[in-house]
Amino acid sequence: MVYPIILTQSKFTHHDNLKYPFEERGLQFGDGIYEVIRIYEGTYYLLEEHVNRLFRSAEAIKIQLPFNKEEITNLLLELLTKNKMTTDGKVYMQVTRGSAPRDHVFPDEVMPNIYAYVQDQPRSLSGLQDGVKTITLRDIRWENCYIKSLNLLPNVLAKQTAKENGCYEAVLHKDGLVTECSASNVYMVKDGKIYTHPATSNILHGCVRMAIERFAEELNIPFIEESFLVEDISLADEIFLSSSTSEITPIIKVDNQQIADGKPGKITRQLQEAYEMDAGILEKKINQTV
Ligand SMILES: Cc1ncc(COP(=O)(O)O)c(C=O)c1O
Repeated sequence: MVYPIILTQSKFTHHDNLKYPFEERGLQFGDGIYEVIRIYEGTYYLLEEHVNRLFRSAEAIKIQLPFNKEEITNLLLELLTKNKMTTDGKVYMQVTRGSAPRDHVFPDEVMPNIYAYVQDQPRSLSGLQDGVKTITLRDIRWENCYIKSLNLLPNVLAKQTAKENGCYEAVLHKDGLVTECSASNVYMVKDGKIYTHPATSNILHGCVRMAIERFAEELNIPFIEESFLVEDISLADEIFLSSSTSEITPIIKVDNQQIADGKPGKITRQLQEAYEMDAGILEKKINQTV
């Protein structure tokens, strides 16, 4: 049995009075998964892709979701309606294996703990327009990075190191081969072709990455799933990153070294425009100017 008095910060309290569930597998083991979905003017972008990935992650760590894809989609839509959400923002959805006495082995019977919340997030226009700086760091994560798991400590430490070095992101590499960034996918443009790490278990299969592959096809730009080396970066024509919150952001410096002329490149700009069109942003911009 667990004894009733719990130490919390420097105080002792009965566990019935705790504001958080202390025997929760997400909290104790990082035993869970999550999604972050972009919202533009109160509408989800790439919702189906995110819901598919949530189910893929759940299956990979053997969490049985109590809803099917359609039900989760409807709940997420209802969350926006209930909050009267009409602005640019994002939803964070988390699923853990559930609450149970602490034991590494899965509990016999447990219900997943699920929550989702919506918040405002304006587009980061300066990064999108001017580009960002990055550093390179060794990718010390596990071998199942395709699972969007709650175990984000290496990602958190990498992003913090980037910030401490005046950078927006950390470009991660395994033995010199670029995988992705701490919270985004990364791409190199060379001689009119886009190169990025293949969608293996070494990277998260980004929903924006999937959209970029589609845009590239529409724009007749070769999209080559071949990893590049850190040392290739200095000769790149363009480097950019992608994620639901960063969209398609140009990278203008890596490890203090300028990429090409130090300005966002032509293909990056074409993809940004395709993104804005696909997400319905460009349409709104055009309508506003008419
Ligand atoms: C490690 C990592 N890679 C890539 C991405 C980009 O994924 P998406 O485009 O689905 O937001 C993320 C997003 O959070 C991430 O954390």
